[in-house]
Amino acid sequence: MSQQTNWVPTSVDLEKPSAARAYDYVLGGNHNFTVDREFVRLVHERHPDSKHFALQNRAFLRRVVLFLIEQGVRQFLDLGSGIPTVGNVHEIAQAADPSARVVYVDIEHVAVAHSQLLLEDNEHAAMVHADITRPGLVLNDPDTRRVLDFDQPVGILGITIGHYILDNPEGVFAAYRDAVPAGSYLALSHLTDDFIELSDFTEAIGHSQTAVLPRSKAEIARLFGDWELVEPGLVMTSQWRPDREEDTRETSEQRDGLYAGVARKR
Ligand SMILES: C[S@@+](CC[C@H](N)C(=O)[O-])C[C@H]1O[C@@H](n2cnc3c(N)ncnc32)[C@H](O)[C@@H]1O
Repeated sequence: MSQQTNWVPTSVDLEKPSAARAYDYVLGGNHNFTVDREFVRLVHERHPDSKHFALQNRAFLRRVVLFLIEQGVRQFLDLGSGIPTVGNVHEIAQAADPSARVVYVDIEHVAVAHSQLLLEDNEHAAMVHADITRPGLVLNDPDTRRVLDFDQPVGILGITIGHYILDNPEGVFAAYRDAVPAGSYLALSHLTDDFIELSDFTEAIGHSQTAVLPRSKAEIARLFGDWELVEPGLVMTSQWRPDREEDTRETSEQRDGLYAGVARKR
């Protein structure tokens, strides 16, 4: 197919849109194909605020990493990290402290190939190609063990990822929570249909390689287990410690679409 270019691993499925490549397109990246761009247009037709979801989410990710750095966290496990784009976790964290350590995890081939390339010379960061619903594989991967010290606090990032876990997200996040010591944090953002009917949107997403399942605030709160949510609790992405005027302009529960929260292990 004419879309095949030299940066595309041979294992990539070019027939079906992928969440990682579609998200890359929405954020203004170049690692996507016609099939992904058409998919984004379809989703956008069904739900015009979908780009707003993504931009607010990425802004939340930046604020979370800076917040965790302020709290003294120097290690990050980024679950469902996506295709590297502006403002990756290691860039933000290592700008604050060059010794900060980051393990990225994703299942999508383009995301994995590009992250591996980007991190080639970065001995404090690694990309693990794995399904995050198999925590044992992620946590015992040799690269995870090489980069992260599980005796020290870890910032677990599950940013727009919980809604891709259709079965037992509580069990999946519990396994990650159990693997880290006191002083660790879990940050999540998660699609919700508490404020808006999303069945058209989720049906459209179902045409990609991964389905999504929006959840209620109570269901999402359970993913933190007994960890204590830091202020301001579980709120919409733009309401979580905003630090730029542009991130709070023209937002609403309906437009943000995702709950966001950060909790600490005592
Ligand atoms: C919307 S992107 C989010 C990227 C990044 N976390 C952010 O918020 O900017 C979701 C990512 O999750 C990945 N993903 C979905 N299901 C996954 C799974 N079971 N295991 C690993 N990665 C997964 C997709 O490939 C995609 O890159």
